[in-house]
Amino acid sequence: MRAYFKRMLRFPVPTSGLILALLCVAVQAKEVSVSSPDGKLTVIVSDERGAPSYRVRYAGKEIMPAARLGLVLRTGPELGEGFLISGSAMAERDETWQQPWGERRLVRDHHRELLVDLVRGGAMPRKFSLRLRVFNDGLGFRYEVPRQAGLSSGQQIEILDERSEFRIADSDTTRAWWIPARNWSSYEQLYRTTRLREAAHVETPFTLRLASGVHLALHEAALTNYASMTLNQRRDGVFKADLTPWSDGVKVKLAAPFNTPWRTVQVSPDAAGLLNSDLILNLNEPNKLGDVSWVKPGKYVGIWWAMHLWQQTWASGAKHGATTAEVKRYMDFAAKYGFSGVLAEGWNVGWDGEWPDNGELFRFAQPYPDFDMAAIAAYGRSKGVKLIGHHETSGAVSHYASQMGAAYDYARASNIDIIKTGYVADNERIKRIDDQREVRYEWHDGQFMAGEYLRSVTEAAKRKIAIDTHEPIKDTGLRRTYPNWLSREGARGQEYNAWGFPPNPPEHTAILPYTRMLSGPFDYTPGIFNLEPNGKGHENRVRSTLAKELSLYVVLYSPIQMAADLIEHYEARRDAFQFIVDVPTDWEQSRALAGEVGEFVVMARQQRGAQDWYLGALTNERARELTLKLDFLDPQRHYQAQIYRDGAGASWDKAPYDMVIEKRPVSFGEVLSLHLAAGGGAAIRFKALD
Ligand code: NOJ
Ligand code: CA
Repeated sequence: MRAYFKRMLRFPVPTSGLILALLCVAVQAKEVSVSSPDGKLTVIVSDERGAPSYRVRYAGKEIMPAARLGLVLRTGPELGEGFLISGSAMAERDETWQQPWGERRLVRDHHRELLVDLVRGGAMPRKFSLRLRVFNDGLGFRYEVPRQAGLSSGQQIEILDERSEFRIADSDTTRAWWIPARNWSSYEQLYRTTRLREAAHVETPFTLRLASGVHLALHEAALTNYASMTLNQRRDGVFKADLTPWSDGVKVKLAAPFNTPWRTVQVSPDAAGLLNSDLILNLNEPNKLGDVSWVKPGKYVGIWWAMHLWQQTWASGAKHGATTAEVKRYMDFAAKYGFSGVLAEGWNVGWDGEWPDNGELFRFAQPYPDFDMAAIAAYGRSKGVKLIGHHETSGAVSHYASQMGAAYDYARASNIDIIKTGYVADNERIKRIDDQREVRYEWHDGQFMAGEYLRSVTEAAKRKIAIDTHEPIKDTGLRRTYPNWLSREGARGQEYNAWGFPPNPPEHTAILPYTRMLSGPFDYTPGIFNLEPNGKGHENRVRSTLAKELSLYVVLYSPIQMAADLIEHYEARRDAFQFIVDVPTDWEQSRALAGEVGEFVVMARQQRGAQDWYLGALTNERARELTLKLDFLDPQRHYQAQIYRDGAGASWDKAPYDMVIEKRPVSFGEVLSLHLAAGGGAAIRFKALD
C-alpha cells in the first residue's frame, strides 16, 4: 500500500478524486481494450488511480506505455481526475466510401470501436466518454462531453488545458522528423531529423521511427471548433497535447455537448506504409455539401513566379503582372496545353506599398484599372479556361470576413470557381477585431482561425467555389466533409527557392511525403524548369534536377497542380513539358511502393477513369539505384513506359538538365532499374496500349 501512496503523490488528485482513487486501488483498476480488425494493434484503457490512461500494443510489443488523458476546464473538476470506468460498448464497421476526388476513389473504413464511459461521484459529479477507433493502420480517440449538471446548455465552457499524452516506449533509440511548433513562420519551415529527445515542442504530423523499424505519425483529424494540437515533450518520450491559445490565454471556448477532434496515431511496419494510410480521412465526417460535381481537379499556370523573382510586381505600375493582356497570354497557353486554370495574383486594389502590413487596404471586388475582369471572364469562356481568383488578406481576417460574401459573389459572377486565399502574417499576428472593436492578435492555428478558415470554405461552397488556402491551418482531413477545400499550402513550398534562405535542400521533398503530406493535399507549385532563375551561381535556385521537378507531380499529391514556371520556359523544353501536359491530378488509386523518411520515395498512381499509371520517384542529396517491380500494372494489359529520368552525369548542382526521355514496352511483373541522381528523380507514364 505504501508503494501505491508514493506513486499517487506524483499525480496529486483532489480529495474526492483521492477517495475514488483509493477505492479504485482497493477494487483493482478496471481495464477495457479494443484491437484492430487484423488483431495486430491493441489499445487498452485503464482507470488506475482514477486517472484514465491508454496504452498501445503492436505486433505483440508495447509501443506506447500508459499515457494520461483528460481536459482541464475553468470551472469544476478536471475531466480525468478521480474518474472511473462505468461502462463500455464495442462496435465494428467495415464499409467502403467514395471520394469525389482524391488519391483513391474508394476508401475502405474498417475499424473496431470502443466507447468508454467515465464517471466521477462526490460533491461535483461529472461524466464524459472516450471514443476509440482502431484500424489496421492506426488509431484515433476523442473526448465526448455531454450536457450535464454543471455543464448545462448555453453555458460557455472554457478549456484551459488538454492532458492527452503520447508516450513512446523506446525513446532513446527513436528517430523523429519534425518542425518546431508556434514558430513565427507557422509551418513554412525546414524539417529537423533528430533523436526523439531533441524534439522539444513540435507540430503534427509528427513522424517517428522506432528501433524496431515500426513507424508512427502523431496527428489529429476533424479539427473544426477547437484549437490545433501541438506536442510538448515534458519528460523523455512523453509528449503532452499543447493547444494553441486564444489571445486571452484560453485554449478553447465552447458549450456542451461537444466532441474534441480525434487524436491520431498512424502505425506502419515501414515508412512507405504510412503513405498508404487513410486513417485521417476515415475519422472525418462524410461530405456535408451534397452534390459536389462542380468541384473540379485540374492543372493551372499563372502570373505568380515572376513576382517572386521580382521581374513583375503585385503592385500597380510599370511592372504590374496581372494585366488583361498578360492574363490573355496565359489563357492562350493554358488552352493550347489543356490546362483548366490561370491564376492571377495582384489583380485587385490593395497591393501598393507594404502589402504584408496593409491587409485592410485590400478590396476583393475591385480590380486594378489595367485588369478588365469582364473582358478576362469572356476571353476565358471563349477558350474554355477559367481564371483562378486570388485573395491575399495579409492576416487582416476580420476585414476579410466583412467583405467575404460580396467578394465571393463577385468571383462567381466573373466565372471563377477556384479561389486561392492567403494569410501572410507572422504567426500570432492574425488581426481580429473583437466585439468591442478592439484589435486582438491571434495565432494561425488557434480556435478562432480554425473557424475563420472554415468560414471561407463554407461561404465559398454556397457559391460553388473551391478554396486553395495558403498560410493555412494544418490539414486534418476536412476535405472529406467539405470537398470544396481543394488544397492548401502549410509547408515550405517552391516560393522559398526564389527568395528563401536557405532554399529548400534536396532532402526537403524526401521528408514531406512522410510528414506534411500525411495531413492532405499540398499546393507546392512544382515544375520549375529554369532551375537557376536568379542567374548562375546565385544561392537561390531550385536544388533539383529537371526529372525531379517532374516527379513532384506524382509524389506530392494535390488535386490542383500548378505548372509554376514562366510559360516561355515550358515552350523552350516541350520534350520535358509533355509529362506535365499528360499527368492527371485525380486518381483511381495510389500506392507508395518504397521509401525511407528523408531518403527517397517511390509513388505509383492510376489515373481516375483511365488505365494509365504514373510513377514518381525522388531522392535526397544521395544518388541511388532503384529496382522496381511493376506489379501494380494490370496483368491483362500492355503498356508503353514513357520515362523521364536523370542522365548518368546528372546532379542537382552540376548537371540538373541532364535528362533522358525514353519509351519502351513494359508489362506486369517486369523489373525496372532506375538511376536517381543526387537531388534527382524520375517520372514515368505507363500508357495503356489496350
Ligand atoms: C504567399 C503564398 O504562399 C504565395 O503563393 C503568394 O504568391 C504570396 N503569399 C502573395 O499572396
Ligand atoms: Ca506561403
